[in-house]
Amino acid sequence: MSGVRGVAVLGSTGSIGRSTLDVIGAHPELFRVTSLGAWRSWETLVAQARRFRPETVILLDPGAADKAREALRAAGCATRVETGVAALESAAADSSVDLVMAAIVGAAGLLPTLSAVRAGKRVLLANKEALVMAGRLLMDLVRDSGGELIPIDSEHNAIFQCMPAGYLPGVAARGVTRVILTASGGPFRTTAAPDLTHVTPNQACAHPKWKMGRKISVDSATLMNKGLEVIEATLLFSLPESRVDIVVHPQSVVHSLVQYADGSMLAQLGAPDMRVPIAQALAWPERITSGVESLDLAALGRFDFEPPDHSRFPSLDLARAAARAGGTAPALLNAANEVAVQAFLDHRLNFTGITTVIDQVLQQLESHPVDNLDDVLEADAAARRCAAALIEPTTGAFA
Ligand SMILES: NC(=O)c1ccc[n+]([C@@H]2O[C@H](COP(=O)([O-])OP(=O)(O)OC[C@H]3O[C@@H](n4cnc5c(N)ncnc54)[C@H](OP(=O)(O)O)[C@@H]3O)[C@@H](O)[C@H]2O)c1
Repeated sequence: MSGVRGVAVLGSTGSIGRSTLDVIGAHPELFRVTSLGAWRSWETLVAQARRFRPETVILLDPGAADKAREALRAAGCATRVETGVAALESAAADSSVDLVMAAIVGAAGLLPTLSAVRAGKRVLLANKEALVMAGRLLMDLVRDSGGELIPIDSEHNAIFQCMPAGYLPGVAARGVTRVILTASGGPFRTTAAPDLTHVTPNQACAHPKWKMGRKISVDSATLMNKGLEVIEATLLFSLPESRVDIVVHPQSVVHSLVQYADGSMLAQLGAPDMRVPIAQALAWPERITSGVESLDLAALGRFDFEPPDHSRFPSLDLARAAARAGGTAPALLNAANEVAVQAFLDHRLNFTGITTVIDQVLQQLESHPVDNLDDVLEADAAARRCAAALIEPTTGAFA
């Protein structure tokens, strides 16, 4: 790699954002932080700004932005503090930026991610919800802008690493017959169906292998995370849903596989630590240290694989159906899931109610073709209204 590359880290205060800054901090000769963005965690953002000295930080919450401005002024730090989605979009498209880490959680990351893609940046895509929502619109923008899209989800990053030379995002790779996503199975892999109703948010967020934000932790517990990943894989690798398999692998060491026409399977292995795919994507096509040790295979001893249980985890079938339906169906699924997961985290909905709400939203709202971004945003808003209406009056039934 030649020269120091500018990086915008959107969602810098979260799990992926902090891991990204950890890798960047170890390579000041390669990367310079140009901007940081978050919602309201102003104290963490101020600490990050004092360490990395970006030109701009953005906080969506105006009150939090005021506090950060005051704190940075008092610390003698020249970093500008801005607020608003437009500021995130500008930061992602700024000419000083070469790489954008898209690590805002949920639909809130859509517009900044699209802005980075439109500007032809290398986008490190952790924000899978943006791709699930916008689908082909986002992939077409990548193609038209000439930018790069490198998946950060460990599964898709593994597949990216196992793809044949010359792979382009959104273009079917010759000789690839199937991709196989591995799943840890989440915290309730062996929990009996009747016991799932009363699990708590803290139990759902106690993932056995990965340390993640609360929303994706709940998605991992319902296996909706794997469902969203199926949709993500169909788009990134241009495969029909029927050619994206899932296998449960509790050790979370084999991160995913690519199956080729000759019967070969290529897999990528590594410790379950997001700094590995982050370092891969920052440096690609070169390799840099991530701060993570390689595996000791003899100490690990064995790898287990088993099929996922669709009856205890109905999210998988809901997501596959949305992938097949296409159009706005994935955006409806994603929005209903975001509302239901937040209600579960707020103790307004029980765990199994999450998929019940998503199922009902998908039954009540028709999917339409997507011609433009407004189609996506309207579907998102409609599904949010529908899910909220289902949850509020029926709290007694679900809670
Ligand atoms: N964590 C993982 O291991 C992992 C693995 C694969 C993929 N991902 C994906 O990566 C994304 C981030 O996950 P995470 O685990 O890092 O989540 P997280 O720890 O909850 O962090 C979320 C980040 O997004 C920011 N944010 C939330 N709402 C926002 C809004 N409305 N506007 C601007 N910023 C907002 C948060 O800011 P505040 O701190 O101010 O709230 C925080 O910086 C998700 O899409 C997830 O699916 C994560």
